[in-house]
Amino acid sequence: MTHTSSTKAVPALPAAPRHIALIMDGNGRWATKRYLPRVAGHVKGVEAVRGMVEACIERHVEYLTLFAFSSENWRRPAEEVSLLMRLFMTALEREVSKMHANGIRLRVVGDLSRFDAGLQKMIVDAERKTAGNTRLVVTICANYGGRWDIMQATGKMVAANPGCTDFTEDQLAPHLAMAYAPEPDLFIRTGGEERISNFLLWQLAYTELYFTETYWPDFDAAALDLAIDSYYQRERRFGRTSAQIADQKKAS
Ligand code: IPE
Ligand code: IPE
Ligand code: MG
Repeated sequence: MTHTSSTKAVPALPAAPRHIALIMDGNGRWATKRYLPRVAGHVKGVEAVRGMVEACIERHVEYLTLFAFSSENWRRPAEEVSLLMRLFMTALEREVSKMHANGIRLRVVGDLSRFDAGLQKMIVDAERKTAGNTRLVVTICANYGGRWDIMQATGKMVAANPGCTDFTEDQLAPHLAMAYAPEPDLFIRTGGEERISNFLLWQLAYTELYFTETYWPDFDAAALDLAIDSYYQRERRFGRTSAQIADQKKAS
């Protein structure tokens, strides 16, 4: 299935956000504030993911996309990186069956070739196991970078169109890592920083952005509702004027 590109046409909008993309930031500071090692924040962060998945199901969100590890996070101390990898594996081991039982489809996107073979196999198995589920699609972005995504898609697009020198958006879009999902309606970043940090650069073109000081381990269903309330206050114009949108509402 292909989804409307926000720059090619004005998408038909659902009232509620259909796709939420989230930068889960602030685990380290959450822990430091409590005189705990950073790892304690990451452990707590996994629990917050569980809560967020449940909250999204209750709110009929169709796609939840979580930035778990960026292509730049390899720059962290080796100890923290290997700990994050272990946490990821443990979470997959523990959660995939439960997710499957709850009708959740799991996808993992990013340059997975840098992960060890065991983790890669777990990812393939989890995606295969949950492939038929439709209640909520949870995407984990791991070793993901927006620039990596655009470059890998460009490479595939060029290979698929030998001799072509004049490409269109439509030729690129199917090769992007998240081609299966509509563009995010709502982007949330926890932890107080107001930047994209190389997350979904292409897909966020017309996404509503929401930033909160709350650290990721503290981000619960009530905090999600604040973000969704903020989303409801926005007027998504996609380049048009407010008057045009008012006219369209009257006509429908
Ligand atoms: C986000 O929390 C988790 C990952 C990047 C894996 P951080 O680890 O970035 O926490 P802060 O930003 O240092 O508080
Ligand atoms: C973004 O958080 C990446 C993830 C949450 C996985 P970072 O903590 O790595 O971002 P910067 O370095 O503050 O921009
Ligand atoms: Mg951070």
